[in-house]
Amino acid sequence: MIDPFGRDISYLRVSVTDRCDFRCTYCMSEDMAFLPKKDVLSLEELERLCNVFVKLGVKKLRLTGGEPLVRKNIMSLIRSLGHHLDTGDLEELTLTTNGTQLHRYAMELFDCGVRRVNVSIDTLDPKKFTEITRWGKLENVLRGIEAAANSGLKIKLNTVALRGTNEDELPNMVKWAGERGFDITIIEVMPMGDIGTENRVSQYLPLSMVRSNLSEHFTLRDIDYKTGGPARYVEVEETGTKIGLITPLTHNFCESCNRVRLTCTGTLYMCLGQEDAADLKIPLRNSEGDEALTRAIHEAISRKPKGHDFIIDRRQKNSSVPRHMSVTGG
Ligand code: 5AD
Ligand code: SF4
Repeated sequence: MIDPFGRDISYLRVSVTDRCDFRCTYCMSEDMAFLPKKDVLSLEELERLCNVFVKLGVKKLRLTGGEPLVRKNIMSLIRSLGHHLDTGDLEELTLTTNGTQLHRYAMELFDCGVRRVNVSIDTLDPKKFTEITRWGKLENVLRGIEAAANSGLKIKLNTVALRGTNEDELPNMVKWAGERGFDITIIEVMPMGDIGTENRVSQYLPLSMVRSNLSEHFTLRDIDYKTGGPARYVEVEETGTKIGLITPLTHNFCESCNRVRLTCTGTLYMCLGQEDAADLKIPLRNSEGDEALTRAIHEAISRKPKGHDFIIDRRQKNSSVPRHMSVTGG
């Protein structure tokens, strides 16, 4: 699948549920309304959709949410998708998770062919952790990370930089990750979805500031490492590990974008930061064969935009993209 700007679309991110057992302050409001169950694709429908994408050239699949591991029976989908790894049709099957269920599923994930997981963790302070996630307990996530590492899964941490919250702690998190051999990606807050009384502008911490703070603690070297994703990488001389920096608002990473995103209702978003989308649920449900679905996917790829339009508007605290990250996945 080649888009109008010559980009080879080989990476599909699938949000398997919009639900989550946390309520992170930058992601959701506390009384977040979730989709009615009937609107959400069944696991069989998700599998069929993924199969078509793999047939069309997707080489890397990432399951996201919400929290993917809170979906009932999710391991059955992961096991089925894992079969594409055996045939070589798929190169990688991964997951972005908040870690709460990892202690339960880590071994089985490895057994299904998963080799890497991204775990979201914004602080190592138990009290702050509960403040940020509202409902979360740090010890559960740490237990999950340990189980994942013991099962042979490679771990990357995703940490959202939050002004006045984990700002001072980031050097320590880089050190903690480095000591365990985990890479870490630090993410700037993105203006996505209503988050209730919280304010995006007050959460926003530019990564230029994070970087200058980090360079007081470590020797950082820009490196040319690329994954096709939005992160730029620096190497930490002291630990030999990498830090990824994602600055959606200040840095343009769109030209090498190789991904599209599928929601749990079967809507395909061609860009995280744009509204335009294609409904794949209708061709999925209206025909048994895959022709209509294939046509709808090709048509959607032909509309993939050149780039995003994120801004955090200082005058209004609203989002520039109305849907939540938990709908399209991070
Ligand atoms: N801005 C930046 N990152 C976000 N995430 C969720 N919502 C936002 C947002 N508004 C992060 C999560 C997780 C990843 C999937 O996306 O913390 O690390
Ligand atoms: Fe859940 Fe991730 Fe959103 Fe936090 S950021 S509420 S863990 S989906």
